[in-house]
Amino acid sequence: MEPLREGPQAGREPLKIVSVIGTRPQYVKAAVVTRALRNDGRFDEVTIDTGQHYDAEMSAFLLDDLPDVQRARNLDIHGGAEHEVLGRMIGSVGDALTEENPDAVLVYGDTNSTLAGALAASTLDVPLGHVEAGLRSYNRSMREERNRVLVDHLSQLLLCPTPTAMENLAREGVEQGLHHVGDVMYDAAIAAHEQVANGGDAPGAHAVATVHRAENTDDSAMLDKVLGYLRGVAAEHPVVLPLHPRTRKAIDAGRLSTEGLDVREPVSYLEMARLLTTATVVYTDSGGLQKEAYFARVPCVTLRNETEWVETVAAGWNRLWTVAEYEPRREISDYGDGHAGQAIVDALADTLGTR
Ligand code: UD1
Repeated sequence: MEPLREGPQAGREPLKIVSVIGTRPQYVKAAVVTRALRNDGRFDEVTIDTGQHYDAEMSAFLLDDLPDVQRARNLDIHGGAEHEVLGRMIGSVGDALTEENPDAVLVYGDTNSTLAGALAASTLDVPLGHVEAGLRSYNRSMREERNRVLVDHLSQLLLCPTPTAMENLAREGVEQGLHHVGDVMYDAAIAAHEQVANGGDAPGAHAVATVHRAENTDDSAMLDKVLGYLRGVAAEHPVVLPLHPRTRKAIDAGRLSTEGLDVREPVSYLEMARLLTTATVVYTDSGGLQKEAYFARVPCVTLRNETEWVETVAAGWNRLWTVAEYEPRREISDYGDGHAGQAIVDALADTLGTR
């Protein structure tokens, strides 16, 4: 890509990268990149956590699993209307970037922290890389879909997890700075699998369910429909349901029934990996968990009417809850070889000119 700016950074070694994160899955994704940057040695990295996820179960104790992100600088921004939180995030991330003066900014996925980081970097003319670029559900009523499109079109470095993501961007006229690096969640899943393989009692056979999408939680009738579906499953088979705070609040406010469901506090990344080792099926509206189910070779039912992770559906490991049957089952090669972190580092090095 063309350098966005000339300045004292040009030619400087090591180059400085700022990763902006804020929500639970972003800790997992950024940890993969942090590890790869550190092993590579050509870069310094600072992680800025917006603070979007602030409950201990949602952030802090996750760090026990992910020591690499413990150095994050926490801006502690949460509370208030979503647009207001977003505005504060853009301002504070912008201030932090001005202080850190990085050579490039990396943002991850599709959350409001992703959008805030991207807008702050863009406003300051700092080169921007998007990890998980090019995913599309083609449902613009999801804020995550709108965030993805905006962030991709602001980025100079589009770090795509799958060939489909590359094609999606090409179709939107995004042609420069595209790299198929593989899926950082696959790298993370390999490491987690090694950790959980050597310890702890395996839980008994059960289904795992998670629900947190605004589309499913913010309308009480819709949430009741999802819970009713899961209660139906639980009549046949135990269902473990770790509850996201958004969902817990909505269940309490709507006085909805979770009867028969094994409701738990949110689980850490490694606890989820452990639950997956003996899960028979996953029910989820999470993007990440659809793939984690596949990585653990557990079939998934997606509690949405569309998914960005279309390969999981085409390969028969995932189906929408609106579809009765799985496609014929096969392995998926699209997520790379488990070295997405290193591929991202190489793309950064090529782009920023360290070699
Ligand atoms: C966010 C992302 C979603 C991602 C998810 C991962 C956006 C628009 N959505 O959704 O794409 O899949 O993270 O988990 O960014 N809350 C707490 N404590 C916390 C975090 C949240 O109580 O630690 C409550 C707050 O009331 C908050 C609500 O949950 O208003 C929703 O949280 P928010 O961060 O806005 O979005 P998520 O639903 O977590």
